[in-house]
Amino acid sequence: MPETTDHPQSLAALAADGGGTAGVPIELIGVTKRFGSAAPAVDDLTMTIPAGEIVVLLGASGCGKTTTMRMINRLIEPTSGRILIGGLDARAQQPDELRRHIGYVIQQAGLFPHMTVAGNIAQVPMMLGWDRRRTARRVDELLDLVGLAPGEYRDRYPRQLSGGQQQRVGVARALAADPPVLLMDEPFGALDPITRENLQEELLRLQGELSKTIVFVTHDVDEALRLGDRIAILGAGSRIVQYGTPEEILADPADAHVEQFLGGRSAMKLLGLTRVRDVVLDDQVRAGTGDDVAGLRHRLRDAGAEWAIVLDENDRPIRWVGRADLDGGSGPVGALPPGPDGRIDTVLSAGSTLQEAVEALLNADREVVPVAGAHGGYVGAVTLTTVRQAVQEVRERRRPPRPGRTTAAGTPPAPDTGAPSADSVALAAAGEADGPDRADAR
Ligand SMILES: Nc1ncnc2c1ncn2[C@@H]1O[C@H](COP(=O)(O)OP(=O)(O)OP(=O)(O)O)[C@@H](O)[C@H]1O
Ligand SMILES: [Mg+2]
Repeated sequence: MPETTDHPQSLAALAADGGGTAGVPIELIGVTKRFGSAAPAVDDLTMTIPAGEIVVLLGASGCGKTTTMRMINRLIEPTSGRILIGGLDARAQQPDELRRHIGYVIQQAGLFPHMTVAGNIAQVPMMLGWDRRRTARRVDELLDLVGLAPGEYRDRYPRQLSGGQQQRVGVARALAADPPVLLMDEPFGALDPITRENLQEELLRLQGELSKTIVFVTHDVDEALRLGDRIAILGAGSRIVQYGTPEEILADPADAHVEQFLGGRSAMKLLGLTRVRDVVLDDQVRAGTGDDVAGLRHRLRDAGAEWAIVLDENDRPIRWVGRADLDGGSGPVGALPPGPDGRIDTVLSAGSTLQEAVEALLNADREVVPVAGAHGGYVGAVTLTTVRQAVQEVRERRRPPRPGRTTAAGTPPAPDTGAPSADSVALAAAGEADGPDRADAR
């Protein structure tokens, strides 16, 4: 007799709870795996993977990432310790049953070569006893979801697909039975950089819709920073060296090993994660087209500024006007002949990253680039000082208290990422330690 309880006793029940199964948390508690007498492949690992997040395991080759992942779906049995998935002990589940509710994507997709795309995707639905119509509908839905036209691709064989397309099919197959958990072991590792970036974008888009719990293994720091809600940096035996959000890790690497793993340039990487909307913008003297030239001249002088930004009636930036342009002039600013140096080539949006902002600054003729908010209205400007202060602020905000687990013991071997050693770009230069004030942020 099955006992009655408020809680589901199997992942199947969890998955059936709601259409569109969202992620469940995964807890590893003191998990160890020994293969024979060698040092444990995974040594007393304790970590929580929150529901609906992408957690990236990042670590050198052989540190135990795959072993950790395969213990979650019981392709490998732990020597000791417990693994809870959605609060349920993985050991209490039938391994086959468990794996039907945990999608698994590996490098080079691992598709069955003698089966069509549809046949590959239909594996788990067929094992679950779905009828043909339901399965066929699901296959087409999944192909759509991963960006492959069903009519074109469903009857192809894997060898008739590019590597990137195979990987998409691999993701579709893993999602077939709508599992709450996805395990992805270097899924994009064998792809060229552009295909890889496309698939990363796709995964983020998918995750925006699906909110699965995703454990994602990679060697690639940039991939980790891009995809991870959290990143666990692992040393030998899957020892957690640092576990935190990408911002936390970049702002405050736990030790020299992590810094080395990040490949230096952590300030630059932080810029790629920070949006213009999240930083304190510089303000420039503003001028409407109807403003009086003489008045503007005074305002510039009072502000100690050389240039004002001219805005149209909807606050959209039109051009810069300099003191020299105003000299001897009169009447409305809009009637002045446009000065040769007043052109605005680039306007950043609030969603631009600071990396894009720096790019724009380096390409611009002046040391300031305007930012437009919704409807293109001017909201402020970015300068190198803005960027520097933003990086400092993120670092200061992240420092105390240090999040996640850190251990200081034992320095694992250097990773084989081929990353350059730490050549820190000192964007967060000394001085200017004062926190920027929040005024004029919008
Ligand atoms: N079946 C096995 N028998 C014996 N040792 C194993 C077995 N599987 C893995 N190992 C060992 O366990 C350690 C961790 O292996 P694992 O595959 O988990 O590493 P990884 O972090 O995924 O590495 P990579 O980044 O190269 O894929 C390695 O030293 C490996 O040799
Ligand atoms: Mg591996």
